[in-house]
Parts: sequence; C-alpha cells; structure tokens
Amino acid sequence: MARSSQNMLKYFSPKKYINFLRLYPRLQNLSKINNKIARSMLIKYYFNLVKKNKSLKNFFIDQSPDVSKINFNIKDLYKGGDEIFNSLASNGIVILEEVLSSNEKNKILDYFNEIEQGKIVSNWKNEKIIDASSIKYKETNKVKISYMQKDLEYLPSLLKINNILTKKIFGKSIETFAEFFLHNCLEKENSDIYEDTKFHIDRYLPCLKIIYTPNEIDISGGPFGFIKKTHKLKNSFMNNLTINSKSFDVDENQLNEELKNNIVSSVCPENSLIITFTNGLHRRNVFKKKNIRRTIFFQFTDKFNFFSLLNHRHYN
Ligand SMILES: [Fe+2]
Repeated sequence: MARSSQNMLKYFSPKKYINFLRLYPRLQNLSKINNKIARSMLIKYYFNLVKKNKSLKNFFIDQSPDVSKINFNIKDLYKGGDEIFNSLASNGIVILEEVLSSNEKNKILDYFNEIEQGKIVSNWKNEKIIDASSIKYKETNKVKISYMQKDLEYLPSLLKINNILTKKIFGKSIETFAEFFLHNCLEKENSDIYEDTKFHIDRYLPCLKIIYTPNEIDISGGPFGFIKKTHKLKNSFMNNLTINSKSFDVDENQLNEELKNNIVSSVCPENSLIITFTNGLHRRNVFKKKNIRRTIFFQFTDKFNFFSLLNHRHYN
C-alpha cells in the first residue's frame, strides 16, 4: 500500500477515535491549547456535557446551600446519607469515620504489612511492588512511595461503599480497584518541594477521589489538604486558572482571602474515608516528622470517561 494511503488509514483509524473516547479529558491536552478563546470554547463544550448528567450537575454545577459540617460517621451513609451528600456538594470534601469493622481494618493493615516487609503473599493485580517515588520524585528521596493494586473483591465493604457513593455522584455505580500507597517519610520535608505538595488540580472536569486510611493522620503526618468550594465548575478563580494557566498549580500567595479561609487539612482518626473532588484545589501537606502513611486510593477516570459524558442518558 502506498505510504500516503497508509497515512490516510491511520488518520481515519476507528481505533484512534475509540481510544480517545475511552479517555477522560486531561490537563496535559488543555495546556497545549495556547489560544484562550479556543481553550474556553472547549471547556464550555465539556461543561455543557457535565450539565446533562443530573447527578454531576448537582455536585459540580448547581449552587449548593452552605453546610459547615464535613465530618460524619459511616452509619450516616447507610441511613441514606442526605447530610453527607449535601456537604459534599457544598464543600467538595467530606470525611467518614469508623468506616470498617476492626476485622476488615486489620486485614488491610496485614496487606500493608506485606508491602512494608516486601513479602507478597495475598492476591494483587501486580506481582511486584512498584517504587512510585522514583517516578514521581525524581531528584530527592526524602519520601519513598511503594505502590500496589488490589481487586475490590478482597475489600468487600469498601466495594459496597464505593458503589453507594459513585451511584449518587455519577448516577450509576462505577467500577474501580484499590491503589495501596505506602509513604515512608525518611526525613522531615521542607514545604513545597514536590509538585503534589503545592495546591493543584488533577483535572478540569468532575474528578472523584476516595481515600481510605486505616491509621490516624495528624497534622504532621502529611494530611490531604483541600480548598472548599473550588470543585464547582463555575467558580471564577478556577475558571481563570483553567483558561489562563500553563501549570495548573498555585502558590499560597496567589490565593485570595476567601480561598485562604476555605483551606482544610483533613486530619482524621484511624479507620476514616476521605471523599473529595480533585478538580478542586488540593495538595498533600508535607510530612513534619519521620512517618509512615498508609492510604488506599480509589479513582474513577478509567471507567467514567469522555464516552460516559457523551452517553449522559445512560446515567440519568
Ligand atoms: Fe492531585
């Protein structure tokens, strides 16, 4: 076949378009668009798709009445969770406490122990422990991050909770898997040395992250930090950031008073679940002492992607 027709085939290859549909829009692609009008048109196009999903519209577009409470008990979720979801829609973050039975929590600590000891005995999606710090934090090694993935069939209560939460937020339950992160902080960190310890956004469209911690996370243990209300797609500071920024992160001195007042550090007791929208401004606070942090992350951008946004009727 002539080279030109091969190129034509490549251009019209259905696979290319199917792969594009399977992706959830990324910041890397947005940053390549330098023309501000083009950028804001693209953002508007996506925001209109979000608006067509009734559940997403409630959490990310509609104005929500102020709710000051962000800490709840897991029992509140099993009772229907109205207060939890009202707070999540208003603030973009809630913390659920006393999430698992002590049996299940201990099972999770055993799983973390496998990673810590480097002795893998249970079933994981990947066979070897991944050194995430060498990928993420190239130059320094104050924090060593070990990473493993597990199917949710081994974490039945967390699977059930994920199903309840995603049904409410996306309109239908979304499948995912568990990402185990072991942060071993070998030395006290200075502020803002890594990208994830600066306020940043992961996406510019609705993005849910759920984080389970079997241990208490105190103020010196690298708690997750969030600026309340920045998950709303109409937030003017956020619109300005997505249309004008190259890097999608902000220094603390760029924040106005209102944003500063809305900063929360999600210190939490053992056995807690942090539910948050990381299209809002967030960061990992630095470790202020030598410490080990064990967290399980649940993310949904694989299974809820551009095609899901287009296919909004299926979710309503
Ligand atoms: Fe992030």
